[in-house]
Order: sequence, then C-alpha cells, then structure tokens
Amino acid sequence: MKAAVIGSTGYTGQVLLRLLSHHPNIDTIYPVSRSKAGTSLFEEDPGLDPSAAGKFSARRGTYISMEDFRSISPPADVVFAALPHLKSAETLEGLFRNTVIIDLSADFRIPDHRIFQSAYGVQPPRPDLLESAVYGLSEINREQIAGADLIANPGCYPTATMLPLLPLAREGLVGSDVIINAMSGISGAGKKERENLLYTSRTENAAAYAPGRSHRHWQEIDFHLNRLSGNTRLNCYFTPHMIPMHHGMAVTTSFTLAPGWEAGRISEIYHGRYERSPFVRLSTKIPETKDVRGTNRCHIHWHVEGDRIFLMSVIDNLYKGASGQAVQNMNIRFGLDEHAGLNLNGEV
Ligand SMILES: NC(=O)c1ccc[n+]([C@@H]2O[C@H](COP(=O)([O-])OP(=O)(O)OC[C@H]3O[C@@H](n4cnc5c(N)ncnc54)[C@H](OP(=O)(O)O)[C@@H]3O)[C@@H](O)[C@H]2O)c1
Repeated sequence: MKAAVIGSTGYTGQVLLRLLSHHPNIDTIYPVSRSKAGTSLFEEDPGLDPSAAGKFSARRGTYISMEDFRSISPPADVVFAALPHLKSAETLEGLFRNTVIIDLSADFRIPDHRIFQSAYGVQPPRPDLLESAVYGLSEINREQIAGADLIANPGCYPTATMLPLLPLAREGLVGSDVIINAMSGISGAGKKERENLLYTSRTENAAAYAPGRSHRHWQEIDFHLNRLSGNTRLNCYFTPHMIPMHHGMAVTTSFTLAPGWEAGRISEIYHGRYERSPFVRLSTKIPETKDVRGTNRCHIHWHVEGDRIFLMSVIDNLYKGASGQAVQNMNIRFGLDEHAGLNLNGEV
C-alpha cells in the first residue's frame, strides 16, 4: 500500500512517518511538506530508522511539495493530513473521494455547524463532507470506520476522556454533571513558536487553561459523548492543564453514578466493551503516563467512593491521541491486523 503524510514535519506528521516506516503493509510513503520540500528526510529527522529508506525512495528520500504529490498517479491509497485546523480541508482539495483520507485536524470532527462555529469561530470549511466523515474513535466506531473514505481522527483530550466515560454513559450510569480534569504534555500544542511554549515558560511550571466550557475540545467531548451514548442530556465540564512534560496525557473524570448501579456491573461493562480491544488496558492500579509513553495504548482505572466514581485514564497524546490512532484507523479501514505497525513497547 502507498501512504502519504501531509504536514510531515510537525509533531504528529513526524510520528506518522516513523510508524508507517515500520508498517508491514506499507511499501511506499510520500512525505509531503510545504516548509521542507526538496530537503532530505533523514537529515531533518535523524531519529528516523535508515533501514526504512526504501519506502521513501520514490522521491529520493526527500520531502515533496503538495504540487509534486498531486502529480503522482495513481494517488496514494491513504492520505494522512497532519495540518492545523482549517488548513486541512483547504489543502486536501481535489483528493476527497479519490483516496481514503484520515484527517488529524478538527475540520471534520463536528458535523453540527452551530457547534463547530462556536468552537472554531467560523463555519465548517467543507459542510458538504461532514455527514460522510466518520469520527475515528477506533474502539467505539470500528464498523463505521471500516466503511469510511473520510475519517476524522479525534482530538487527544476527547480520546483520553471518552474511552473510559462512554461505556458507562451508554449504560445510563451517569447520574450527574461530568467533571473532567486533564493534564497534557506540551507537544499537545504542536510545534508552534510561542512564548508560552518555550522551555523557560513551561519548565517547573503547571497551570490550568481554558476551564469549564471554554476549550475547543469541550465542544467535541460534549457533542460526541451525547451522540455516541444515545443520551442528549449529559452535561460536562472540562478543565485542561499543561504540565512540564513533552508528551503524555492523564485525565480524571468524576460523576455520581445513577441509581441502581453495582460494582460488579461496572467491571462487567468495561470488560465486555474492551475485551477485543488490543489497545485498551483495564488497570488495577492508577495508571501513569510513563506506562503508555510511545505506545498506542490507553490505560483505564476506576475508583468508587459512595455513589461517586472517578475514572482515570492515560494516553500518549502523539500516539493514541493522534498518529497511533490514525494508523489504527487505517488498519481497520483496510481490513488489516489492528495491531499492524503498532506493536510498541514504548519508552522506559
Ligand atoms: N499534537 C498533538 O498532540 C495532537 C493530538 C491530536 C490532534 N492533533 C492535531 O493534528 C494536527 C497537527 O498537529 P501537530 O501537533 O502535528 O502540529 P504542528 O507540530 O504544529 O505541525 C503542523 C504542520 O502542518 C504544516 N503547516 C503548518 N501551517 C500550515 C499551513 N498554514 N498550511 C499548510 N500546512 C501547514 C507544517 O508542516 P510542513 O511544513 O511539513 O507542511 C507544520 O509542521 C493539528 O490539527 C492538531 O490539532 C495534534
């Protein structure tokens, strides 16, 4: 199979190239970049394994421009877009319906125009494609992903929040407002040059930002939590924190359990939902970000006090929160082994 990554020098693009370079079903990779076209891939990313050079040989191991990529015929079987929000739909023009697209931006994640506008301040860039785009939360939407030509890869916070929350929400066990507190490593903000992302601003420093309902991922969580659980009345509040770590994400979600819940039932729900999900691990201890760093896994633990439950989840924002889940979605879409290219032990 042939794959292309557009925006391949950003954080998620770089991880995609590394994952695809070892993917057993991918033989050709087109690394598309607007800033580095023509420069050597292995010089720009010396961490990329040189044994995979053959997969990049179509353009002699250099990044290629979007114009060059458009001239390739037939097009790649799958195109990953790792571009900023609102740039993705525009850059992908002409590729829709010609190939399978897995978009890591938010451009196709929220089909409701009003909600998209309230999150991003503009109308969705391609409203005509929204209904056909499938929300790529792999473990929840497998069947739809398998038939989709446009997959909207979820945000990192929504992934880490909804994997533990949705199974209980779907069973009607959420009996109050849902309070979500999340911590993210700095790479969650991308490779932008911003003063508040500098080492000197972030080291030995942690803070909440965009609390309550003011972060864009709140709209995404609120929309898909209600849609995917079949309950349109769940209220959630989401407060992210940036912590001095490169990548990794930990989320704690709490709510009051609805009357009639039982401890055994909660365990049964989780085991039933995730028994065939290779990347979700139900953990008997509180999970830590280092357990999943550099992997596509989400580890989940729960704790009950009285009728209040606390759900704890960790992911690596660049893997399960972005590029890893994107490769998992490609595997599902093309009927490949869901693990292919994702058998990762992670970093110690
Ligand atoms: N970082 C995360 O943890 C994370 C998690 C989930 C989802 N996402 C989403 O994934 C997408 C990429 O995120 P990222 O963290 O990889 O961002 P990033 O590090 O800032 O990289 C984005 C890349 O897009 C290209 N680009 C930048 N501005 C562009 C423009 N105006 N037009 C076209 N291309 C442009 C650049 O690559 P080239 O110069 O090589 O083209 C840039 O390096 C975003 O939509 C982000 O929200 C990120």
